[in-house]
Amino acid sequence: MTQKTGRVDDRYSTNEKYTTLRGIHRDAQRHLSETEWNYLWCGTGDEVTLKDNVAAFDRYRFNTPMFAGIDNPDTRTKVLGFDLSFPAFVAPFGGEAVFHPEGHLALGRAAQAVGIQQMVPVASSHSLEDVAAASSVASVFQMTFVGDEDAVLEMMERAKAAGYKYICVTYSPIRQWRERMMEDRFSIRGEKGPANFGAGRSDPAALVELLDFTRPRWNWQQAARAIARAPLPCIVKGITSVKDAQAALDAGAAGLYVSNYGGRTVDRTPAALDVLPSIRKAVGGEVPIIFDSGIRRGSDIVTALALGADAVALGRLLALGLAADGEYGVRRTLELLQREFWTTLGHFGCSRVEELSEANLYQP
Ligand SMILES: Cc1cc2nc3c(=O)[nH]c(=O)nc-3n(C[C@H](O)[C@H](O)[C@H](O)COP(=O)(O)O)c2cc1C
Repeated sequence: MTQKTGRVDDRYSTNEKYTTLRGIHRDAQRHLSETEWNYLWCGTGDEVTLKDNVAAFDRYRFNTPMFAGIDNPDTRTKVLGFDLSFPAFVAPFGGEAVFHPEGHLALGRAAQAVGIQQMVPVASSHSLEDVAAASSVASVFQMTFVGDEDAVLEMMERAKAAGYKYICVTYSPIRQWRERMMEDRFSIRGEKGPANFGAGRSDPAALVELLDFTRPRWNWQQAARAIARAPLPCIVKGITSVKDAQAALDAGAAGLYVSNYGGRTVDRTPAALDVLPSIRKAVGGEVPIIFDSGIRRGSDIVTALALGADAVALGRLLALGLAADGEYGVRRTLELLQREFWTTLGHFGCSRVEELSEANLYQP
């Protein structure tokens, strides 16, 4: 059953294969080899940031005032002009054919069924056109600002022609220190990488280019120029400080994406959740903020929104859904997340998503 209306069926009894995210996690682990599991769960260095991202959520507690709860909260919201059945996007995660051959094609179909939108990475296992054709919700195309500016602009034009509505800009200066992958000698394009990675791409050369860390790096001035020339509005991902949030807005960003890539870039950077409140306070209430890194259940979406996010993006959770059972596993993951989000709103007495605030968080 889909829940595009924002109303949720909250009965425990169901004929669905999965009744909790735990069951999906278990199946995903059964289906993936150890090397594939490590690709999904690797962070960098000692994986301190990866752990901190989750620990940051665990530090928060909620208020549930008596006689305030309601049974009809509405989980719908509008972010970046999109109507969402609940405040979530599919995060742009690449190499996803490792988890299921249908990758972002399945992610898009599941997102459409549930009523949310999809961000598609340049490193997807499928071409941006194929992903766009698979559903009506492939709306944000993620790409790195690197190398020749005209080539970057051309890629954006290609995304626009395929129907994407936003560009998600990222910056990745140098290869990351991922020891699990180093121990496994796992390379997404190497011998131990999945044979089908890149199989669906219309231009496999783009992947090789993406992993070419010798191309010229950009600065904020170049980014601002490309954003000004871009055929689509740009949101900037990887924001973890007030300074970068301001720089992104000065460069013309239409929205901010607070994220440390799930602890996959540099270890010992702060938990994404810990930097979120100061960024929201600094930029004011009007700037759209997407958040990811550390969301593990529906109530985490509540915490992120109470601390200033407008919506979250879901990475590893949806990769688990994909690995567990393709499109169905992703859809079920999204439904369970929406249901838990709905339940938490109901206990708070929030009838609308926009009512969530820091007042819902317990202050000792
Ligand atoms: C397997 C995997 C591949 C990823 N590939 C990309 C990518 O190509 N581009 C990108 O912007 N982020 C990428 N990410 C980061 C996700 O978009 C997202 O920021 C991250 O998963 C959030 O952390 P969480 O899943 O622990 O909540 C990847 C994440 C994973 C797990």
